[in-house]
Amino acid sequence: MSNNVISVRNLVKVYDKVTRALDGVSLDVEEGEIFGLLGPNGAGKTTLVRILTTQIPPTSGEAFILGKSIIEEAERVRELIGYVPQEISVMTDLTGYENMLFYSKLYGVPSSERKRRIENALSLVGLLDKANIVVKNYSGGMMRRLEIAQAIINYPKVLFLDEPTIGLDPSGRKAIWSYLSQLMEEHEMTIFMTTHYMDEADMVTDRLAIINLGKIVAVGTSSELKRSTKLESITIISKFHKEEVKNLLNSLPFVKQIYDGKEEGSVTAYVENAEEAVIEIISTLKENNVDVESLSMNKPTLDDVFLAYAGTKLEETTSALEARKVRRTMQRMR
Ligand SMILES: Nc1ncnc2c1ncn2[C@@H]1O[C@H](COP(=O)(O)OP(=O)(O)OP(=O)(O)O)[C@@H](O)[C@H]1O
Ligand SMILES: [Mg+2]
Repeated sequence: MSNNVISVRNLVKVYDKVTRALDGVSLDVEEGEIFGLLGPNGAGKTTLVRILTTQIPPTSGEAFILGKSIIEEAERVRELIGYVPQEISVMTDLTGYENMLFYSKLYGVPSSERKRRIENALSLVGLLDKANIVVKNYSGGMMRRLEIAQAIINYPKVLFLDEPTIGLDPSGRKAIWSYLSQLMEEHEMTIFMTTHYMDEADMVTDRLAIINLGKIVAVGTSSELKRSTKLESITIISKFHKEEVKNLLNSLPFVKQIYDGKEEGSVTAYVENAEEAVIEIISTLKENNVDVESLSMNKPTLDDVFLAYAGTKLEETTSALEARKVRRTMQRMR
């Protein structure tokens, strides 16, 4: 038995006979990971989460949560998971505590345990002192945290979060990240989250999969994916010793390719690992008494990774669009 908590095998989802939202998705998530699914609008992220949380069936393929089939054993799967949907789902006319009470009854938490568990979950997301405030007076970030508290009331083994920080301002997003990491420390849990924010995928996840047009195009840690683009490089500017610099760079085994830069005296060397290369290059230059005016390290971003694997840029416009969508939903609920 592998220790995969989530195992996805060749999932396909076709909506209305025409929209191929998932086009053969396979992936494995290990125990205790925060696994991220990064992709632009319409890539198929929510569709995958809905299938894994047994809300909609796949057209074909299979998936298992802790060895239980999402098709054959949907009820068992539901007992193992918690879920925070992309859309705001809290009841805004109730207090935080009342929302929690509703969920704890829904999940069958014994009445003798409810108060303790609710207070515990609320305190984990920093809302205990706001428990008796009506939710329509919460900020977007507080609503999101309440939803996370609801989703963990039943101590799930796997928590699914669909765009947990969508539409929040930077401080609201950071708060969610810090509560999530605290949560991981206090509960043995695996988190599967979707996002179209690159910084979130970069900072919060242990491993991530990039999804585009219903297909997984790359999987790995953020640094593995960045390294695999082969875009790590060192740029040196030396107006008077450029040829010597080039010769020295050429003699180093880890230098893959060298290009002249646009600026006078500039040369860029593509390397396997920029952090290690920069130390070696500086000492080689020093040993050979070659003066340089500047030396800089260039590392790819997840946007570069996205471009390399999906062939497009993960556009910033996506998030603005989404934020508007969420704000509209929230306004309707007030
Ligand atoms: N219920 C549905 N009926 C028909 N088509 C759907 C349905 N839900 C999603 N789709 C389509 O399936 C594709 C994938 O949608 P999905 O919501 O899974 O993407 P997403 O990656 O979650 O996007 P977003 O970033 O906007 O949340 C899109 O083309 C979408 O229009
Ligand atoms: Mg979605």
